[in-house]
Amino acid sequence: LRIAVLASGRGSNLQALIDARAAGVFDAEFAGVFSDRPDAVALQRAAGAGIPRQALRPVDFADRAAFDDAFFDAVAAVQPDLIVCAGYMRLIGERHVVRFADRMINIHPSLLPAHPGLHTHRRALEDGVRRHGASVHYVIPAVDAGPVLAQAAVDVRAGDTPDSLGERVLAREHVLLPACVALIAGGRLRYDGGRVVLDGAP
Ligand code: GRF
Repeated sequence: LRIAVLASGRGSNLQALIDARAAGVFDAEFAGVFSDRPDAVALQRAAGAGIPRQALRPVDFADRAAFDDAFFDAVAAVQPDLIVCAGYMRLIGERHVVRFADRMINIHPSLLPAHPGLHTHRRALEDGVRRHGASVHYVIPAVDAGPVLAQAAVDVRAGDTPDSLGERVLAREHVLLPACVALIAGGRLRYDGGRVVLDGAP
């Protein structure tokens, strides 16, 4: 299985994937790391792991569609079987979502369908939820709305701030995302006609 990872920032989820592969959690190859920000720490992490990397800047393109075309042509060029959005902070044009429909997943820091979009930890606290967490889902044109593969939950504690809550969620993300990749790499989970199918499930 060839994996492409898309990341815009610090890349701690990318690092979790790199470490998990090294630890034998899954058997796959990193075909490339792609970013819309040349200064993303994620690119340094890729370099440290000897993974090919590429950054394209949206400002260098006429419009959003032109950027997406170039960006996803670069991704397609490494022939990925699985594209993992790990903190990729740009909306992806529908054309490219459809192009990679059955092989693009995203990690989102909430228990979807609760709290799609940004500032999830703050909003979870404002809503007074008792449990919060992270979800891994297939990417569909609607943002943070695709079929969920798996989730990890944490209890909200009295006195939690968005930062303290977000830190506990992130620690769970770092286990959840590699576990999902392991399910896919091991052929135990697939995306079939818009549904997530887990081997052995009724
Ligand atoms: C994570 O919280 C992820 O769920 C969200 O963006 C953040 C990325 O963090 N999509 P990192 O770049 O992997 O450290």
